[in-house]
Amino acid sequence: MRIGILTAGGDCPGLNAAIRAVVRCASSDNVEILGIRNGYLGLFENDVIPLTRATVTGILPRGGTILGTSRFNPTKDENCLVQFKENWKVLGLDGLIAVGGEGSLSAAHDLWHKHELSLVGIPKTIDNDISGTDFTFGFDTAVSIVTDAIDRLHSTAESHHRVMVVEVMGRHTGWIAAYGGIAGGADVVLVPEHPFRISHVCDLLARRKNDGRAFSIIVVAEDAHPHPDEAFLTEEQTNTIYRHHRLGGIGEALAAEIERCTDIQTRVTKLGYVQRGGSPTAFDRILATRFGIKAYEMVRGGQWGQMAALRANRIVSVPLIEAIGNLKRLDEEIYRIAEIFFG
Ligand code: F6P
Repeated sequence: MRIGILTAGGDCPGLNAAIRAVVRCASSDNVEILGIRNGYLGLFENDVIPLTRATVTGILPRGGTILGTSRFNPTKDENCLVQFKENWKVLGLDGLIAVGGEGSLSAAHDLWHKHELSLVGIPKTIDNDISGTDFTFGFDTAVSIVTDAIDRLHSTAESHHRVMVVEVMGRHTGWIAAYGGIAGGADVVLVPEHPFRISHVCDLLARRKNDGRAFSIIVVAEDAHPHPDEAFLTEEQTNTIYRHHRLGGIGEALAAEIERCTDIQTRVTKLGYVQRGGSPTAFDRILATRFGIKAYEMVRGGQWGQMAALRANRIVSVPLIEAIGNLKRLDEEIYRIAEIFFG
């Protein structure tokens, strides 16, 4: 048997742990594993490498992906698809494990459902926004990086009596912001699921100052929006901040508005790609390992069109269709917990 594995979409800590788990299972079964480089692009370009036990030695704690990644989607172009299928045949693949986020799992679903290629998926993303699984790996590491940053920002915020705005990733959901904010003790957390009123934010900061707490920490998710009733962004700012593929900039705009309304010195830290880099936490290493083992078992069992998922701390397989189409929005209960500590 010959199985391919690829990592597609934005990278995240834990990808190497998942690759290692698949290769280790396969090597004790004498199953051949081909690493497809740079996501689906590697199969289109026939860019593959054999993965053996020796190749994956030492990669468990490493961030990123030894296979490289890209956002290339072979289903978007008919000619690509023909070449893709041809290379699949020439390589003699019996199945493919696609490790990806919502977009890449959606491609996996189409390749299986519409083009009858044998795929299984492994969900990954720091954003934790994939439906069908309680958690994705990468998220826990991102949250611990955000928490560490908030801890550090507390001391400088307090010394200078400033408001610190921390802009975090998460695409269209507020998981990283809410978890990071709760763990770091943020005074306000702004998420895409709850458009915010700038007047409420400024009142809260002024109240804190009057009560003798002159510093504050605000965590803002990159896609958090002001409530339409209190829209303070210009059209140009809106277009720049909420670009389709690259969000970012709400932190700066928010800080400027806070300074204007409250007269409190405000500074911004945009954590950016630091949240995606470096070594995975133990939780992410274990989750990625469990997903890798499950995906390998699914391939052996011919459970195509499914993905590995975490449900109530059990690893299960769920149809890929459950993962795509609807982003997993921030759990309301988690938002309520963050909210208890506002102010
Ligand atoms: O999906 C992961 C993520 O890091 C998001 O949080 C962020 O909005 C996006 O990827 C950035 O994408 P890119 O790597 O294409 O700039």
